[in-house]
Amino acid sequence: MDKTEELRKIKEEIIASKDLPLYNYRIENSYFPVIGEGSHDAEVMFVGEAPGRNEAKQGRPFCGSAGKMLDNLLKTIGLERGSVYITNIVKDRPPENRDPEEQEICSYSPYLVRQIEIIKPKIVCALGRHSMKFIMEKYRLQKELDSISRIHGKLFQAESFAFIPLYHPAVAIYNGNMKKTLEEDFKILKQFL
Ligand code: URA
Repeated sequence: MDKTEELRKIKEEIIASKDLPLYNYRIENSYFPVIGEGSHDAEVMFVGEAPGRNEAKQGRPFCGSAGKMLDNLLKTIGLERGSVYITNIVKDRPPENRDPEEQEICSYSPYLVRQIEIIKPKIVCALGRHSMKFIMEKYRLQKELDSISRIHGKLFQAESFAFIPLYHPAVAIYNGNMKKTLEEDFKILKQFL
């Protein structure tokens, strides 16, 4: 099976898995699951937390205001959105934009692990503390796990990819200092590439 087919299989499984914790909420609201988008050969993969309302309505990751911020950050380092791969740990929108729960991360994260195995990015960037925590625990970086305020913008080496925890772009929407911090951290990503 080629990459595109393997990724399509993940999408079909998520669509059909009625026991996913947010499946009923998805159906009740006529939302789409948000699987991910971008290049299947991307060197860079961004992992957010869970889709917001706009994303669940369109079935696309980061297409609302946090997405605009992400697009601007990509522009500052000359990366085209279509050349990277963007996804989330949790593939369905949690009610009221609340943080994803442990059980949700547990149920949806195997899909993320498969996406990483299929795409084989050189570098994975977590957007926010939930994806940071999951990735660092899963890929044996747990000893280095700390608060995101201490380790954002640092480069770690996991077995098969490099890893940078980044603040979630939504925190920069109304906070100019955070925007500057994210811009500085994106430069670390650019240097790596
Ligand atoms: N926030 C996320 O973490 N993911 C999205 O896709 C959109 C907003």
